Amino acid sequence: MPIIQPPDDAAIERAAALLRDGRLVAFPTETVYGLGADATNGEAVAAIYAAKGRPSFNPLIIHVADMAALDDLVAWNDDARLLATSFWPGALTLVLPRRPAATISLLASAGLDTLAVRMPSHPVAQKLLRAAGVTVAAPSANASGKLSPTTPAHVAESLGDKVDMILAGGKCAIGVESTVVNMATGAPVILRPGGVTREQIEKILGRKLDVFDAAAGEKDAPAAPGMLASHYAPHLPLRLNADSVADDEAFLAFGPDIFVKGGAARLNLSPQGDLYEAAANLFAMLRELDKPAYAGIAVAPIPDTGLGLAINDRLHRAAAVR
Ligand code: TXA
Ligand code: MG
Repeated sequence: MPIIQPPDDAAIERAAALLRDGRLVAFPTETVYGLGADATNGEAVAAIYAAKGRPSFNPLIIHVADMAALDDLVAWNDDARLLATSFWPGALTLVLPRRPAATISLLASAGLDTLAVRMPSHPVAQKLLRAAGVTVAAPSANASGKLSPTTPAHVAESLGDKVDMILAGGKCAIGVESTVVNMATGAPVILRPGGVTREQIEKILGRKLDVFDAAAGEKDAPAAPGMLASHYAPHLPLRLNADSVADDEAFLAFGPDIFVKGGAARLNLSPQGDLYEAAANLFAMLRELDKPAYAGIAVAPIPDTGLGLAINDRLHRAAAVR
């Protein structure tokens, strides 16, 4: 059976059975493809880390189809409920205190006393989570530190036969990962900018939020888990905020591409300068330009507002010295 399956009911049932059986299934979400396993099964969770080659201190997001599935898992507070009702299902992950009764594998949360939880909106993810009947731990479905996958082919390229099935669900509409907000300690903090913007969250909460400084993260002692400074790495060096491009460089443009000439290849994240379109194209275009034929990838400046915050966060990680 080919590893990439169209998401008809029979394939979803097979995928759900694989998950219950402790196996790995890659599935589409509105942000990026996830590499799912039963979050309560420690061996299945270990298989995720093994398949990704991921440092085990980096905890995973727990995915559910409905709020009721979270009752025994996390302790809510008013702000967290407000965000969940405003943005779920969708590209927001909430970090909340873990309840003592939670049966989630400790490995999934890397031994922390909090859990990161999210309800994805992609219809295939929703169907799979309901059919599986288990909570699903799912990082992005790529080898650790590499570009996140936004198509089934990206998953197959990155993980190959390390995954038991890839449920196809087209190109991810958002294209960058969910926004991770720590709601477990005092004032909410954005740990990772993502598909729901800082401005959207601030509007709902009625106050300004802190954004965790990813650049301050260190490789072996991340200040917050998962905030490795170097991440999402293409093979080629990246040069950000480029206003010129060398003959042997590839150029990743944004907005009307009239000023910068030259380059060995060029793609445009969004000729109209639309940050949603740019986010959806980001990982696929970086992959496409990441060829040994070029000396590096020059990237045009991207505004730091709205989804631009998440795009620039990913670009800075991709550009970090390895
Ligand atoms: O959009 C997404 O969030 C995708 C799709 C598949 O849902 N998933 C994803 O997972 O990006 P992953 O594992 O690549 O990123 C999870 C992020 C990491 O930055 C991790 O450190 C953080 O969430 N995280 C998970 N649990 C945490 C916790 N208990 N406390 C703080 N951060 C946590
Ligand atoms: Mg990831």
